[in-house]
Amino acid sequence: MVQSSSPMVVVANRLPFIVKKDENGVLVRKQCAGGLVTAVAPVVVETRGLWVGWPGLHKEDNLEYIPESSPDDKSPTAGLKSEQVIPVMLPRQLFDDYYNGCCNACFWPLFHSMPDRALFQSDKWQAYLTANKEFAARAVDAVKKIHAEQPDAVPLVWIHDYQLMCAANFIRNGCEAEGIQVKLAFFLHIPFPSWDMMRLFPWDDELLQNILGADSIGFHLEDYCFNFLDCCQRRLGCRTDRQKMLIKHNARLVTVHPLPISIPYERFQSLAQVAPAVVKNNPEEQILLGVDRLDYTKGLVHRIKAFERFLEKHPEQIEKVVFIQVAVPSRTDVKEYQELKEELDMEIGKLNGRFSTANWSPIRYIYGCISQEQLAAFYRDSSVALVAPLRDGMNLVAKEFVACQTKEPGVLVLSPFAGAGSSMAEALQVNPYETELYADTINRAITMPKEERELRMSLLKKREREKDVNYWLESFLESVNCDCKNTSGRLSP
Ligand code: G6P
Repeated sequence: MVQSSSPMVVVANRLPFIVKKDENGVLVRKQCAGGLVTAVAPVVVETRGLWVGWPGLHKEDNLEYIPESSPDDKSPTAGLKSEQVIPVMLPRQLFDDYYNGCCNACFWPLFHSMPDRALFQSDKWQAYLTANKEFAARAVDAVKKIHAEQPDAVPLVWIHDYQLMCAANFIRNGCEAEGIQVKLAFFLHIPFPSWDMMRLFPWDDELLQNILGADSIGFHLEDYCFNFLDCCQRRLGCRTDRQKMLIKHNARLVTVHPLPISIPYERFQSLAQVAPAVVKNNPEEQILLGVDRLDYTKGLVHRIKAFERFLEKHPEQIEKVVFIQVAVPSRTDVKEYQELKEELDMEIGKLNGRFSTANWSPIRYIYGCISQEQLAAFYRDSSVALVAPLRDGMNLVAKEFVACQTKEPGVLVLSPFAGAGSSMAEALQVNPYETELYADTINRAITMPKEERELRMSLLKKREREKDVNYWLESFLESVNCDCKNTSGRLSP
C-alpha cells in the first residue's frame, strides 16, 4: 500500500459510499468503489485521516449516524470507520442548485469545451460558492479533529474535482483563523479548458483566485496545466513559469503538476481471470464493446452512426459481430442528459430495426449498472473496445479494457480527445467526428491479424501495469512533499 507521512483529509463531492436505508429501514453503506476510492481510501485509513463528502442524502433526511461497514464487506473502504467520515448534508434545494445547476449544467460542459451546452446563471454560481463554503467548513472541522489527536502532524488536505474548485481557498482561510498549519492540494479529474473557454464564464476571476488557494494543483495532462497557467496569467495577471510549472499569487507560490490518473490494474486483471464467459450467439461471433456513463461528452451517438456506416460498408459482417453498449445512467435530473437518453434510444432502435435478422440484432444495449465481474468479462471477451469520446479528462475504460485482456488479445480504438489518447500510442486512433474513417477503423480493428494485435496489446499492457493507480498516488504524494521543500524558491525573471 502507498504510504503517506501526513494524515490525509480527502474532500470530495461524494463519500466513497452512499448511505441508504435497506428494506428493513436500517441504514447501510452502498459501495461505489471506483479506482480513486480503491487507492485513496486505504491511505485515509492508514494515516488515521478523514473523508469529507456527500453521503447521498440531504439535510431534510436527518441522517442520524454513518453506519459501519458490514462484517462481510471486502471493499477498500471497509476499514474506514464511521468516525473517519464527515458527511456534508446540504438543504435539498441548495444541493440541487450547486450540483445540477452549476457543476453539471455549467462547469461540466464548459470544461469539456462545449460552451453551447453551458448555462451561466448567477444564482447557481452563488449556490456553488455556498456549497463549497459548507464543504470547506466540514474540512476545517476534520483538520481540527486531527490536530487535537496528532498535534505535531501537518495534515494533507486533498480536494477533488470540479465540484469543489473554490474549497481550497475557504479551507485556507478557516485553518489560518484556527492557527493550524495544513498542506492544501487540489486535483481536477476533468480537462482544464483553454483561456478561450474560461473567459466565457462570467465569474472567471473569482473562480481562478479560489483555485489558487491550494498550494499544489494537479491535472491529468501537461496541456491542462498549461491552460491553467495561461488563464491565471491572462485573467489575473499572475507571474508564471511554464518550465517549472509555478504561479505566483498574492506573494505565494503555487505549484502545478501533470499527474495522469490510472486504474487498479491487478484488481481488473484478477477479476478477468475468474469472470465467467460472456454468452455469444456462436463461438466465432466478435464483440465490439462500449462502456460509458450516459454523457454527451462520450460521443455515443457518433459511435452508433459509425457502427451503422460500418455495417453498410461491410455487409459480410452481418450476424458475425455484435456491438454491446453499456450506458450507465448519470445525472438524470439534468435536461441535457434526459435528451441524450431519448436520442440514443431512438438511434439504437432505428439501427436495430434496419439491420436485425430473425436470429440476430447488431446492438445489445444495456442501460444500467453492471457488476465489476460482468464488466471484466465483457472487457476480456471483446475483440474491440470503442473508446471515442468527444472530450474526456482521461477515460479509465480504455485502461480497464487493457488490464482485462487475459485471453485472445483485442484491439483498443481510442479518440485523441480523451486524456488517455496522449499516452496509449499503440491504440488505433479515431476522430469520432469523421464517420467514414471511424467505420473503416472499426473494420481494421475487427480484421486485424493476431500478430499485430498481440504486439500492440503487450505494449499497452506493459505501460498500464507499471503506471497503475498506486503509481499515480505515489507521484501525487511525492509532488506535494517536494513542494514543501521547494516553494521557498523564486520565479525566474
Ligand atoms: C466524472 C467526474 C467525477 C464524478 C463522476 C460521476 O468522472 O470527474 O467527479 O463523480 O463523473 O458523476 P456524478 O455526478 O454521478 O458524481
